[in-house]
Amino acid sequence: MACSSEKDLRVDKHSFSEPHNVLTTHLDLDINIDFENKVISGTAQYQIHNKTGSKKLILDANGLVIDKVTNAGVDCAFSLSKKDSILGQALIIDIEKEATEVTIYYQSAPNAKALQWLNSKQTAGKKNPFLFTQSQAILARTWLPCQDSPGVRFTYNATVKVPSDLMAVMSAENPIQKSNDGIYNFKMKQAIPAYLMALGVGNLEFQSLGENTGIYAEPEMIEKAAYEFSETEDMLKIAEEIYGKYTWDRYDMLLLPPSFPFGGMENPRLTFVTPTILAGDRSLTALIAHELAHSWSGNLVTNKTWDDFWLNEGFTVYFERRIMERMKNKDYADMLALLGKQDLEHTVESLGHNHKDTHLKLDLLNRDPDDGMTDIAYEKGFFLLRLIEESVGRKQFDFFLNKYFSENAFKVIDTKEFIAYLNANLLNAQPKAKEKIRLDEWIYGAGIPDNCPKVKSTKFEAVDNAILSFKKGYPLKNIKSENWSSHEWLHFLRNLPKTISQKQLNKLDEAFEFTSSGNAEILNAWFQLTIPKGYKAADKALEKFLMSIGRRKFLQPLYEALYLKDPVKAKRIYKNARDNYHSVSTQTLDAIILM
Ligand code: BES
Ligand code: ZN
Repeated sequence: MACSSEKDLRVDKHSFSEPHNVLTTHLDLDINIDFENKVISGTAQYQIHNKTGSKKLILDANGLVIDKVTNAGVDCAFSLSKKDSILGQALIIDIEKEATEVTIYYQSAPNAKALQWLNSKQTAGKKNPFLFTQSQAILARTWLPCQDSPGVRFTYNATVKVPSDLMAVMSAENPIQKSNDGIYNFKMKQAIPAYLMALGVGNLEFQSLGENTGIYAEPEMIEKAAYEFSETEDMLKIAEEIYGKYTWDRYDMLLLPPSFPFGGMENPRLTFVTPTILAGDRSLTALIAHELAHSWSGNLVTNKTWDDFWLNEGFTVYFERRIMERMKNKDYADMLALLGKQDLEHTVESLGHNHKDTHLKLDLLNRDPDDGMTDIAYEKGFFLLRLIEESVGRKQFDFFLNKYFSENAFKVIDTKEFIAYLNANLLNAQPKAKEKIRLDEWIYGAGIPDNCPKVKSTKFEAVDNAILSFKKGYPLKNIKSENWSSHEWLHFLRNLPKTISQKQLNKLDEAFEFTSSGNAEILNAWFQLTIPKGYKAADKALEKFLMSIGRRKFLQPLYEALYLKDPVKAKRIYKNARDNYHSVSTQTLDAIILM
């Protein structure tokens, strides 16, 4: 970590850049994608705004080889600071006070953390390689020199050269067809922070889903994806009705291979999405609503630092559930909220009720921001917003949020500024509601405050009754599960007694065929039960799951459970599977599976 003296005025402790001195405002990127050597190389030219007459431009870099830096065609002196294991290096470029542009000639490292280079076997088509980036939180700097801080926004144009049988797409205006020469030009006219810079390269096809929405995927997956995501255009219209105009023109999605470490990533104009939500019945599409909602919370109004991550995710979960309430109904949104509450309780339990990482406002000094990004930001954030909604009324709250998104569009906000804004624009006029909410306790305090909203779900009550009947030993055919969605099944599996026997697992499996389920969420919840019991009949399916899927949300609890039960087996599978995983996942898993 860089030394942080009293005089150090940088607000973002996860970036070396000093945007208050010299700010990058526009990027022209010209890069070549070399699959053979796993290297991105080329030039990044920045337009800069020198606010203080500084003689230095500071960028973030991590593992980049910098060949040279020029200004107006003339070489500039530059240096790289000592490497910090989390932050990487400061790229310090000597500039003239009058300089308005610099060009950096660079190459990425073959093990750049943002990048996953997949060989053809790891794709659906098995014929072509695939590359994708994952820049959030501080990995953009591993494939691009940049001011890698959420408070720094820039527009960009890019020229990307890829093997001529592949197609490139970015968080920008995208092609809908392959080019003949493998050269693609991109334009992003809305200014975005570096963590939203994104690139995907593979054998891709585009299919329209509506006037302003569409899906990119490998040809082998495109029909399935188009079916699953066919409601996207409606979601976009509903989202606009709730919180105002969509400011990014198009909303497309890129379906990634299963090694993608997240469920989704809100790259502007092009959400990246895991294939593990292709359940075949559109039952897991709340995730699309979530990434779409980030077009307002996160991409339009952005957290100033990673300590304020809840301002991105808590608002997005709240908005996601509002969209789903309109797409389906209140019962449906309540199921999502209740599952979220279970996640929240589980996270607080495992971190400890007094743990500082259970505060909404985080303190990630000297830490990898990724370590603080738990369900707290998502679900404690959601429940605070729901509490505010319940206290002031939905109409008032919506009025406030519309104003919040429009007045803060393309800006950043930190927790303190948000509190001031909320008080000035909503709560000061409603002292009773303000007193009831106890904002400080929610934001700066640990655990779950006792005024957390209660959620009732009639659908889950029916599931609870089914669990009761199972516990009493009544035949499973009495359970009326024909109309259960993924959410009811999740609630069912999560709340079965921990004392369940092998024989009971077997009976459940016979009746409901969990082991052969094609739904990744259900499989994950099922394995959570089978692993601790050593239920052999699911072993093969578990191994297949771990070998093919790289989504950290599943891998982490599964490996934790497996390592506890059978460390030798956990190590064996992990050793075989590790090459399939993105660095985001291996970073977490390496700490669980001690080889
Ligand atoms: N922005 C996040 C993913 C992320 C968070 C990447 C932190 C890197 C650091 C994305 O919007 C997200 O929250 N994805 C969730 C899905 C969602 C439905 C909760 C996921 O990937 O599971
Ligand atoms: Zn999110």
